[in-house]
Amino acid sequence: ADGTVEIPVVFNVIYNKTTENISDSRIAEQIEVLNADFGATNSDVSQIPAAFKPSASGDIKVRFKLVATNRKKSTKTNWRSDLNEMKKASTGGIDPTDANKNMNIWVVNSILDQYGRSGVLGYAYYPENAGLWYDGIVIANQYIGKTGTPSPFNLGRTTTHEVGHYLNLPHLWGSSDAGCLTDYSDDTPVSPGPNYGAPSYPLSRACGGVSSSQMFMNYMDYVDDRAMFMFSLNQKTRMQAVVSASGPRAGLR
Ligand code: ARG
Ligand code: ZN
Ligand code: CA
Repeated sequence: ADGTVEIPVVFNVIYNKTTENISDSRIAEQIEVLNADFGATNSDVSQIPAAFKPSASGDIKVRFKLVATNRKKSTKTNWRSDLNEMKKASTGGIDPTDANKNMNIWVVNSILDQYGRSGVLGYAYYPENAGLWYDGIVIANQYIGKTGTPSPFNLGRTTTHEVGHYLNLPHLWGSSDAGCLTDYSDDTPVSPGPNYGAPSYPLSRACGGVSSSQMFMNYMDYVDDRAMFMFSLNQKTRMQAVVSASGPRAGLR
């Protein structure tokens, strides 16, 4: 009635070692993190700088509900992001559960990039890929939930970030490493590229010779989990549009 959309979530856990077969409670914890972050009930909203409070999203009015968890043992010890083999039973993975109706999350032991380099925490597809066989989100098992997760990616916010992509949010610096590109949200200051660690506020960076105070505490930057705690109002509008009745992910509602 208040326009909140509850997205059904399917977890597909593919493991080699049993420690990679993350527990149901870790998965429940991750759902709780998503609901807190998207509801803006996360305790660290209080840390949003005063200058950014007027553009803070508040409740995104999107929630998440676990509907199934599928598990599969595999001999594979890493997975390349460009191949998406974890998403097909025929290549050792798990087929998605109706990707038009569910947000599928694959949990794997290790993700490599297209050049075979390690260190990828997660990746996701934009709504233009809605319902395709590879649509959804992939996260390395260590970063799901909070209990037992390694600092500084220990608060479940890798998944919050990837759900942002899944709901049409680019990085703050735009969809290319070049930076200083639009992220289609006027209330997130233009950014030349990622911030890492836990920067101290305020932080000015320039694009085209013009400096602006960076919203590095936004979930769509690359800072540590404890240093990210907000979406903006315009980002809320973009995500709402995706799950609206006429949006590309209307099947989730
Ligand atoms: N590097 C990943 C991406 O580009 C995720 C970054 C997650 N950051 C975090 N603090 N958990 O999608
Ligand atoms: Zn990202
Ligand atoms: Ca912007």
